[in-house]
Amino acid sequence: MTQSVMVLNGPNLNLLGQREPGIYGAHTLTDVEGLCRSACAQHGMTLEFRQSNHEGVLIDWLHEAGAAQARGELAGVVFNAGAYTHTSVALHDAIKGAQVKVIELHISNVHAREPFRHHSYLSPAVQGVIAGFGVHGYQLAIAALAMDKQAEVK
Ligand code: DQA
Repeated sequence: MTQSVMVLNGPNLNLLGQREPGIYGAHTLTDVEGLCRSACAQHGMTLEFRQSNHEGVLIDWLHEAGAAQARGELAGVVFNAGAYTHTSVALHDAIKGAQVKVIELHISNVHAREPFRHHSYLSPAVQGVIAGFGVHGYQLAIAALAMDKQAEVK
């Protein structure tokens, strides 16, 4: 069965390209979607790409992803939760509750930035974390999910 990857983007990521370009670069979220679509195609997977500024919507999507993963339809989630990374117990609980495989993704190297960005509520609940590789981190995260999938088949 062809599996999909769900890429979820949290608050303010709709502003990519115009938002602090010195930190996040010039690529727009539409550019990122294109990169993700090519990466998924390269690995024989399909893409579901979403963005919301609302915590509850992100929680609902994680639940949906967990159900799709349980049916064998989803390889996992690449999740850039934006600032909710540093504040949200609810997103931590959603990942655990939905038993969904998540790769936490940050465009910037959050550990080289302000101290309030050094703690993640998500990290203890996810498979792994990719940070600091710009928008190419999304491609790395998709590759990681594809490798995981292959390892499961062997
Ligand atoms: C971010 C890092 C977060 O600290 C910040 O709040 C974001 C984007 C990143 O992609 O580097 O919104 O997740």
